[in-house]
Amino acid sequence: MKALILVGGFGTRLRPLTLSMPKPLVDFANKPMVLHQIEALKAVGVTEVILAINYQPQVMLSFLEEFEPKLGIKITCSQENEPLGTAGPLALAKEKLLEEPDKPFFVLNSDIICEYPLSEMLDFHKVHGGEASIMVTQVAEPSKYGVVIMDEESGQINKFVEKPPVFVGNKINAGIYLLNTSVLDHISLKPTSLERQVFPSIADKGQLYAMVHTGFWMDVGQPKDYLAGLGLYLDYVRSNSPSELAVGRNIIGNVLVDGTAKIGEGCLIGPDVVIGPGCMIESGVRLSSCTIMKGVRVKRSAHVSESIIGWHSTIGESAQVSSMAVLGEDVHVNDTMFLNGVMVLPHKEIKTHFLKPEIVM
Ligand code: GTP
Repeated sequence: MKALILVGGFGTRLRPLTLSMPKPLVDFANKPMVLHQIEALKAVGVTEVILAINYQPQVMLSFLEEFEPKLGIKITCSQENEPLGTAGPLALAKEKLLEEPDKPFFVLNSDIICEYPLSEMLDFHKVHGGEASIMVTQVAEPSKYGVVIMDEESGQINKFVEKPPVFVGNKINAGIYLLNTSVLDHISLKPTSLERQVFPSIADKGQLYAMVHTGFWMDVGQPKDYLAGLGLYLDYVRSNSPSELAVGRNIIGNVLVDGTAKIGEGCLIGPDVVIGPGCMIESGVRLSSCTIMKGVRVKRSAHVSESIIGWHSTIGESAQVSSMAVLGEDVHVNDTMFLNGVMVLPHKEIKTHFLKPEIVM
């Protein structure tokens, strides 16, 4: 069985992290986002994952070289010359997908973190017998997503309403699909949207079904949702493999620490914190609801909360970083600085306080 992961797009909402790395390779809970998906696909018997890319091919190819042998699954790239949106990449990879014409294939958005109920989806697809299945999830604020209007009993989808200004329903497209290869007949090799063009036409034929996913789900493509998703993911780890989480007198709630990170005396860490490989957390540091990526140094008595600290950055002694601050790669915050909600582009040194949200260019 094959799968295609949409790993193109520009990841503008997750800047400045995506200025150093394509969004699917940005770490989430200490591994590239797309790795969570490839592992889940492998677990249900997918034998080849096609990564549909449209920029920075070199970075993606080095990822492949590193992870293909480690994971023991075939990973190939399908590269666009121009961004083909969410459907065009399927037409580009048509030949590969048609190597197994009688088997359905998965399509995933690269920024979705959930329990990946892919084996349930295979069963669901078989039972309804339609051409396409999409996973939907219920959210409190449907207005920023594509809402699906469906028959609650059969799951058959009647229509899609993209970002509805008034309430029409709260089940949204969760960005995970299982499609028969016949769907490829409806997609041409040009920039096209699955959600806006292809799915509505399959729904018109009564061939599109929605499987409601009730477990945790988050599109982690922007900082606020990334951190919210991290909290949900760590709760899931707590329920399913608690031994992965850190324990100790200085740990509060769910905390994931890479084995190569060092944590000094008198720190207080958690809840909902991830500390990456090679990080150095000095004494008396306070961390809560944040991700500290690979190679970061947090100096003595610094505080970081509700923020994402990009690779190889430094937080100065007694500095405070809070309120959805996102620091790009290799940012150096001087001692005693206060940063509130600020976005800092890569390779900068911060010598001034930023007390309200700003972008440091
Ligand atoms: P933003 O710029 O922050 O909106 O992010 P994005 O460009 O990733 O867009 P969005 O989150 O809407 O994309 C949904 C999924 O489609 C993600 O997995 C993207 O990686 C992927 N995607 C978006 N546009 C393209 C494209 O032109 N080509 C390919 N191959 N994938 C795409």
